[in-house]
Amino acid sequence: MNQKNNKNSLGLDSIFEDLDNPIDLFKNWFNKAEESEINDPNAVALGTADQTNQPSVRMVLLKGLSDEGFVFYTNFNSKKGSDLKINQQASMCFHWKSLRRQVRVIGKVKQVSEKEADDYYNSRPYKNRISAWASNQSEQLDSRDTFLKKIAEFEKKYPDQNKVPRPPYWSGWRILPKEIEFWLDAEGRIHERLNYVNNNGKWIKEILYP
Ligand SMILES: Cc1cc2nc3c(=O)[nH]c(=O)nc-3n(C[C@H](O)[C@H](O)[C@H](O)COP(=O)(O)O)c2cc1C
Repeated sequence: MNQKNNKNSLGLDSIFEDLDNPIDLFKNWFNKAEESEINDPNAVALGTADQTNQPSVRMVLLKGLSDEGFVFYTNFNSKKGSDLKINQQASMCFHWKSLRRQVRVIGKVKQVSEKEADDYYNSRPYKNRISAWASNQSEQLDSRDTFLKKIAEFEKKYPDQNKVPRPPYWSGWRILPKEIEFWLDAEGRIHERLNYVNNNGKWIKEILYP
C-alpha cells in the first residue's frame, strides 16, 4: 500500500476512516480496543462539575451505546449523581493504552428510561444488585463492617436472586454528544485529531492541531 492509500480524505491515518457518523467510528475503534485491552475497554473517565464549578473525574463503565449517546449506570445519590442533578453538562474520556488512542465526548446527560435501567439492572449478578442497595455511594462509612452487615441484611431481605428490585436511586445517564474527538498517537508528538461537532443533528468534521 502506498502512503496515499494509508490516509483518509482529511490526510489523517486511514484508521480515522471517512465516516459521517462518529458513533460508527467509535464502534470500530471500540471493537479494536476490545481485542487488545487487557481489561475493561469500556472503562471511561467521567467528568462532572458541582454548583461551584469544581470539576470531579472518576472511572465508570460504558454500558450502552447508540446514535443517541453513551450510557453509564450509577447511584444517583453519589457525588457524581448530585453533580449531574445540578449541572447536566458532562464529559467522558476513553484511553486505550494498547492502541495509543483516546476518544473524548462532551454533552448533556439525560436519564435513561425506567425500562432500560431495569433491563440492565436485572442483567447484573446478584451480588452487584445487592450492593446497589447496601452502598450509600460516596457517603462516609464508619467501618467496613457496617457495610458488610448491610449487605447481609439485604441478602436476607431479598433472598430470591430473581426478585431483587432496582433501588429507586440507581439508574443510568446517557450523554447526548455535542462533540466527539478521536485522537491517535504519533511519533514526535505529531498526533492526529479528528473532532466531530454536532450542528443541529448534523455532524461536522474538523481536524485539530495536536
Ligand atoms: C474501571 C472502573 C469502573 C467503574 N465503573 C463504575 C460504574 O460504572 N459506576 C459507578 O457508579 N462507579 C464505577 N466505578 C467507581 C467510580 O470510579 C467511583 O469510585 C464511584 O462511582 C464514586 O464516585 P463519585 O463519588 O464521584 O460519585 C468504577 C471504577 C473503576 C476503577
